[in-house]
Amino acid sequence: MKIGVLTGGGDAPGLNAAIRGVTRRALSYGYEVVGIRRGWAGLLEKDVMKLDRDAVSGILPKGGTILGTSRTNPFANEDDKNKLLRNIEELGLDAIVAIGGDDTQGVAAKLSDLGYKVVGIPKTIDNDLSGTDRTFGFDTAVAIATEAIDRIHTTAESHQRTIVVEVMGRHAGWIALYSGLAGGADVILLPEEPFDIDEVCSMVKKRYEQGRKFAIVVVAEGAVPKGIEDFFTRSSQKDAFGHERLGGIGEWLEKEIEKRTGVETRSVVLGHVQRGGSPTAYDRILATRFGIAAADLIKNGDFGKMVSLQGEKIVAVPLKEAVKANRVVPEDMRWLAKVFSP
Ligand code: F6P
Repeated sequence: MKIGVLTGGGDAPGLNAAIRGVTRRALSYGYEVVGIRRGWAGLLEKDVMKLDRDAVSGILPKGGTILGTSRTNPFANEDDKNKLLRNIEELGLDAIVAIGGDDTQGVAAKLSDLGYKVVGIPKTIDNDLSGTDRTFGFDTAVAIATEAIDRIHTTAESHQRTIVVEVMGRHAGWIALYSGLAGGADVILLPEEPFDIDEVCSMVKKRYEQGRKFAIVVVAEGAVPKGIEDFFTRSSQKDAFGHERLGGIGEWLEKEIEKRTGVETRSVVLGHVQRGGSPTAYDRILATRFGIAAADLIKNGDFGKMVSLQGEKIVAVPLKEAVKANRVVPEDMRWLAKVFSP
């Protein structure tokens, strides 16, 4: 049995732990494992590397992915699709492990529909994949954002400023909600519900009137103000899966808050800092468990599935389950974002 492993989409802390988990378990079954470089792009170019014990030694605590990643969509046109299918045969891959978010799992699901033996492993710092309670990378991103908010607190307080912290989260506000709560933010704005800028400004003013002469606003990059209700974007260019590059809501809030309240305001974008560096112990363990479970699915001939966390258990769900709508913060949890608002 020859297994190809790839990592696709935005990187997330824990990818190397997952690569190590699946490789070590697969090697223990006597399988041959190859790493496909830069996601689906590596399959289009037959760019692979051997994954043996040495190759995965020492990678557990490392951020990023030793295989590299890309947002390549091999089903974007007929030529690429044919090349992809041909290369899978020519490389002699009996099974593919696709580690990624909804776009990567979408490609995996299509391949599986075409009869290829594919297994998925969910990852994304956004934690927005259907079919699993948690993706690895999220815990690390929340820890990084929380630490940043702690640091921003002290400078905001010293200068009596309001500071807006823009965190990642395209459709789902999990990072904003969790880091906002953990960091004690005064205002938390999620993509799930358009916010009222007048309401945000009155909360900031109220806080200063209460004598706490600084405020922290945490906003997800995908949050939108009522009346505009469209993403703030950095560029109109879209990636191969049709996603725009988001950004700008933090800066917009900075200007609006300062203009409307007269309070000195700044904004910071945490951006890719949230995706870099060493994974937390939680993410290492989750990614390792996912990697082991993926190799076990192959061993059991259980293809077309994605490994998933449900409660404390690792189970397998159909790949199609994973590529359903984004798993956003549910309505009955969104109120949490407002509990500590002034
Ligand atoms: O998909 C995860 C994510 O971190 C999103 O929150 C964000 O919008 C996007 O990746 C940014 O990706 P990049 O700048 O790497 O293309």
